Amino acid sequence: MRELEPIDDADKIRERLEHVVRLYNAGKPLFPRTLLEDLNRQIEEGKEEVRIEDLDDVPSTYSLGVPALCSDFATTYCIGYTSIQLLTHVRPSFPTMILSDQAPVSILYTHYPSVPASTLEEVRGAFGKIRGHWEESETCQELTSHLSTMKASTRIQKIVAFGLGTLAKVQNGRLSTRSYVQHAAIRSMVTALADVDGEEIQCYAQDPWYDEMDVAFLGSIGITVVSDPKGFLEIDESTLVFSVCPNVPVKQIVADVRWPGAMIWNTVSEGEETKQWKKRLRSGEEFWLGPLITDPDSPRVCDMVRHYTRVPLRDPKDYFGDLSIYVK
Ligand SMILES: C[S@@+](CC[C@H](N)C(=O)[O-])C[C@H]1O[C@@H](n2cnc3c(N)ncnc32)[C@H](O)[C@@H]1O
Repeated sequence: MRELEPIDDADKIRERLEHVVRLYNAGKPLFPRTLLEDLNRQIEEGKEEVRIEDLDDVPSTYSLGVPALCSDFATTYCIGYTSIQLLTHVRPSFPTMILSDQAPVSILYTHYPSVPASTLEEVRGAFGKIRGHWEESETCQELTSHLSTMKASTRIQKIVAFGLGTLAKVQNGRLSTRSYVQHAAIRSMVTALADVDGEEIQCYAQDPWYDEMDVAFLGSIGITVVSDPKGFLEIDESTLVFSVCPNVPVKQIVADVRWPGAMIWNTVSEGEETKQWKKRLRSGEEFWLGPLITDPDSPRVCDMVRHYTRVPLRDPKDYFGDLSIYVK
């Protein structure tokens, strides 16, 4: 059995938690735009190592090459984004881990499973078919009707999507209908938001799992794939952010980086609800979401959405899960 932590560790843990919560409550961003701009610049310059500041503005150096220590499981780096929930979560089996000064933004090492990829023709064929079903769905009609009648304070000129998943990669022997529908939904949004003077709406999508085939196909339907963190840096007041169950805390990042003109993303829960387990449906099956999910709500996300008008989106076919449209 594990020994109890000595008293001074318990004091240090409490001090660390109080420190993080104090900074957060004082309004210190976890994901400052300037930090992501600086990280993006270092990556673009082809640096082998990048410097990223933590919550106390202390920089750490991370290798963009996979260190030997991680080479048995990782093939590449990815940007790690740590939500306020994880920054303040004391792991019962390893409480002192919280003292190792986890930074909100860091570099992690990972591998993307090598799965069979479809050809461009196969992706195009599947997209045409699934898009047809999507356009006939109640959810599509509801989404486009809300968007074409909504009264936004700024005209939407850009859509930036996060975590919609790969189209080309075959997962568990099948293509992901949800990912196809979610990309088709971007095109539906463009049609619904089209201006009478025909000004074009730019579309960007960020998901580190996209492969070359995804990039080529999405480019052919007017969606430009951008690498992390460029999607976040594309956001401005005339942007609609579209995000569905991403593996990173998109809502918390967006709340810090720049408030967009509109969001279509998983419905934000307020107050005590953010700490509770929620029952959700996926592919007709029930599952439970815990408070440490990858894209959790936070007091700052709740403050932000209070400035928007919300319309829930009914989605009986579970193409998205629990989604809402937020318009400023
Ligand atoms: C649970 S899947 C959701 C896929 C799809 N949206 C759905 O609803 O079925 C999470 C997705 O988030 C993506 N993701 C992980 N890190 C990301 C990042 N930094 N930016 C954008 N997407 C990311 C993953 O690659 C994955 O496709």
